[in-house]
Amino acid sequence: MEALITLLPGDGIGPEVIASARRVLDVVAARYDHEFTYHEELIGGAAIDATGGPLPEPTVARCRTADAVMLGAVGGPKWSDPNAPVRPEQGLLGLRSALGVYANIRPVRIYDQLAGASPLKPEKLQGVDLLVIRELTGGIYFGEKTRTANAASDLCTYTVGEIERIVRVAAGLARERRGKLCSVDKANVLETSRLWRDVTDRLMAAEFPDIEVETLLVDAAAMHLLSRPADFDVIVTENMFGDILTDEASMLAGSLGMLPSASLGDGRAGLYEPIHGSAPDIAGRGLANPCATIASAAMMLRHSLGLEREATAVEDAIAGAIEAGARTPDIAAASEPSVSTDAMTDAIIRCLN
Ligand code: NAD
Ligand code: IPM
Ligand code: MN
Repeated sequence: MEALITLLPGDGIGPEVIASARRVLDVVAARYDHEFTYHEELIGGAAIDATGGPLPEPTVARCRTADAVMLGAVGGPKWSDPNAPVRPEQGLLGLRSALGVYANIRPVRIYDQLAGASPLKPEKLQGVDLLVIRELTGGIYFGEKTRTANAASDLCTYTVGEIERIVRVAAGLARERRGKLCSVDKANVLETSRLWRDVTDRLMAAEFPDIEVETLLVDAAAMHLLSRPADFDVIVTENMFGDILTDEASMLAGSLGMLPSASLGDGRAGLYEPIHGSAPDIAGRGLANPCATIASAAMMLRHSLGLEREATAVEDAIAGAIEAGARTPDIAAASEPSVSTDAMTDAIIRCLN
């Protein structure tokens, strides 16, 4: 098949991990006889430096016409002055909004060989296989912001429609898996969470009576995620809670550098990115773990391009490289040698069938 893929490397380790994903996609294309055409565009700090803004119009235009978009990461100390008029992160939020990708799917997959990289006891990790479905285009991220000399506010808003559509996505995925949905909110304090809970309860009873539903307050959920991670199947939650809980969940897998994501709207196109950021502390040194971005490329092959066999081949190749002992420093035990971003990518490509 032919596919148009927009690449947004962004900042910090973004260009390094996107280069890795592209190399893997090139091998997939050659091996399975596909033609992927890439357009690389600016976003984030790189776009601010080049154009003055974090999301130039040509970038949005290319993303809208692409079959899929892959993003590295945005942000870094260079653009982090709290008084700066524009920030790299605004580019990413603007893009998610412009593309209407309200459903952010963040799978947490555990590799047995990496149990040592997680701070949890290995027995706690047995059977962990969960998906966090994070609402991505609403909530406190997108409400009105105010700032005066001595006060600031961020408005958190959700509509019934926004809640229904994300819960439907999550419940539909639960139905294809172990049939369990956990909705996470803060209904003891927040009005938006009380609406979230009402809508979820009503929708689940009406449309998904076969799905087992659990409801947790977000503070307790943060604890349950570590005390009984294997119990979770699909977790659905609002934008900010999903952001925080998935960085926490990455420690089940051993590193932030292991967790991919797919951001989907109502169509087939999607935005694919690792859940991690631009990692300024390791940028430019070949230390970044490319697994999250390569696994995001696999999600792109599956969800936007309909290439299930190829997606599975990429996921198996990541597992194969880890089984063969390839480790970037973030997932290497003290006694194990580690490899560079490029060598990790080579190891994955060697395992690609
Ligand atoms: P971060 O995710 O960039 O890094 C947190 C820690 O995890 C760092 O120690 C980093 O070295 C490590 N890490 C992250 N990804 C890694 C990888 N692939 N391999 C190995 N180690 C990895 O979070 P931060 O330091 O809080 O944020 C840095 C910048 O990134 C900020 O400007 C933030 O806004 C931005 N950010 C962007 C995105 C995105 O573009 N989607 C996501 C999160 C943070
Ligand atoms: C993520 C990031 C972003 C978010 C930032 C950079 C805007 O943390 O993708 O998880 O909070 O959504
Ligand atoms: Mn985040």
